[in-house]
Amino acid sequence: MPRKVDYGFRYEDDNYDVYEDYDYDYADDYDYEEEENGIAPVTKAKQEASRTGVWRCPICTYDNENSMSACDICGVLRNPLVKVNNKGDTAAAAAFKFDAPSPDDLVSNGLRSVKSKSKGEDSRGRGTNFLVESELAANGLVSSSTSVTRERHNGVEENDSTSGSGNKPETFNTRMDTESLPSKSGKARSIIERKTESISQYIPEKWMTPNNKDDGLSQLNLAIVGHVDSGKSTLSGRMLHLLGRISQKEMHKYEKEAKQQGKGSFAFAWALDESAEERERGITMTVGVAFFTSRKYHVVLLDSPGHRDFVPNMISGATQADAAILVVDASMGSFEAGIDAIGGQTREHAQLIRSFGVDQIIIVVNKMDVVEYSKERFDVIKQKLGTFLRSCGFKDSSILWIPASAMENQNLVANPSEARLSWFKGPSLLDAIDSLQLPERDYSKPLLMPICDVIKSQSQGQVTACGKLESGAIRTGSKVLVMPSGITATARSLERDSQLCNIARAGDNVTVNLQGIEGNQVTAGGVICHPDYPVQVTNRLQLKILVLDISTPIVMGSQLEFHIHHAKEAARIVKILSLLDPKTGNTTKKSPRCLLAKQNAIVEVVLQGPVCVEEYSSCRALGRVFLRSSGRTIALGIVTQVIKREE
Ligand code: GTP
Ligand code: MG
Repeated sequence: MPRKVDYGFRYEDDNYDVYEDYDYDYADDYDYEEEENGIAPVTKAKQEASRTGVWRCPICTYDNENSMSACDICGVLRNPLVKVNNKGDTAAAAAFKFDAPSPDDLVSNGLRSVKSKSKGEDSRGRGTNFLVESELAANGLVSSSTSVTRERHNGVEENDSTSGSGNKPETFNTRMDTESLPSKSGKARSIIERKTESISQYIPEKWMTPNNKDDGLSQLNLAIVGHVDSGKSTLSGRMLHLLGRISQKEMHKYEKEAKQQGKGSFAFAWALDESAEERERGITMTVGVAFFTSRKYHVVLLDSPGHRDFVPNMISGATQADAAILVVDASMGSFEAGIDAIGGQTREHAQLIRSFGVDQIIIVVNKMDVVEYSKERFDVIKQKLGTFLRSCGFKDSSILWIPASAMENQNLVANPSEARLSWFKGPSLLDAIDSLQLPERDYSKPLLMPICDVIKSQSQGQVTACGKLESGAIRTGSKVLVMPSGITATARSLERDSQLCNIARAGDNVTVNLQGIEGNQVTAGGVICHPDYPVQVTNRLQLKILVLDISTPIVMGSQLEFHIHHAKEAARIVKILSLLDPKTGNTTKKSPRCLLAKQNAIVEVVLQGPVCVEEYSSCRALGRVFLRSSGRTIALGIVTQVIKREE
């Protein structure tokens, strides 16, 4: 019943309060000198060679053999050029040095993420993202991560998640040239110029704005997030069952099959964890999308994976959220693992969720049965997690606390029947969901729907695109423009909450059945838009970025993965225009040679293929980007300028 999707990825909002626990400021330790006479800037030196027999590149910090006169990694000339004797000793002391932390230092400081191999393995790597998101948010930048979405054929889904954290040292292929990247073959290239009268003159038609009388319940996109094994899928499955979305017959089938595989306790989770691998490993790997109806909303449940390897998928699903349920495991030791500063996904997910602009959160303290429904345990968790959530920028008034047991069906859709939970006088989870408020929707702008998934049915010749409308509206029979192919198609039918509907508006998560277009002209990462207001398409962009905890600086020519909504492209940094003061946003240095961890900068990137994009100021969802390398997110940012496409 649920739809399994690897969404794209998203980032944070700019209305984000500064984290109080943001204490990492080592970028400040670097003291740049202004570039003089066109000579490369030199960082203030503390030491060049940290080990004998090697010299450390001041740009990328790679420890080169003394026999090298240029850096083996980034090609930067050793400065000053040293005469190397036949023993390979360095003949001259370096005139410039800096003490950028080596990869080893970073590991020992817990600043690199380490990929855990299996469920239950305690991965000690620190999440790469959240420190950054806090600052990004504070600076009006945005965070995200990714997952790869493959198209589905004949309704059969193939998802392939890219791992969130690599355990191998991060290396960039760096080139100092700025030649054009080769273009990808097989991609539709037509670009439709945006009409100049454009968006300011756009007036939505009457049917595009909701009419409360006729429209029934609104959709609420609700992300279920939290540490691995906290019970997210079990909770989701249980809610779906209680609310009649999973029949008794289906439930019996899950129970029987789960038992047969020796995983009886996962029966409810199996409603969401559909793939053989997820069931065998007992973990969610891709976001499960399911629907239920509460008194106030059509709820779109986005059941996220908690395992750190799948943080990119969690991010991609959760970025569509209007609100979130953070599930924590009340068991002794489990809550503590989730809140741990190193590798705790309760912590990381909370920070990520906040960084996407989600400010309403329900905390389900799950597995209360394991702690005898103890009020003391609940209070300890509330106190510790509450302090942390406040430091992320959540307001006390926007946090709801629900003690529950998904396994024993306590406090989910009705008040608890368990006497040991009689001390709790608050709402049930379902009532808490109904108390959430919908965020504002952008009905006044033309249609923009990033495509997160494409379903092609060859037998019936149908093409269906899935995604959330970021702005505008669509109805059955609407002519739409599918970008980047530039083909006009007709919306033959629409489905919302697995039901046919006639109209979908901003905020709605829908599938659109398209007519008059070939399957290969609709791609995940593309955008469905109003025919007169095509989304911009380019392969050259100016970005404002915040660099994450990287060990290898970003230099001109660095090759990266570029992610924007559901699109991913190879990219190269072609200009580093300026460094920015993280607090004021003012330029502190023009044309720096490289970017280090925690620095804010304006850069220009060239992508291997074109992407659909808007400036962040005009559409947040289409203007949030992140840059990855070697399976790690290395920078987050927003699009400040869409530059004319390079052919
Ligand atoms: P990931 O998606 O992999 O992060 O895990 P998850 O958070 O979805 O957890 P899942 O629902 O797969 O449950 C993990 C284990 O916790 C299963 O064995 C569940 O039976 C168990 N579990 C879930 N909820 C409860 C609960 O309320 N009480 C008890 N005792 N066990 C629970
Ligand atoms: Mg799960």
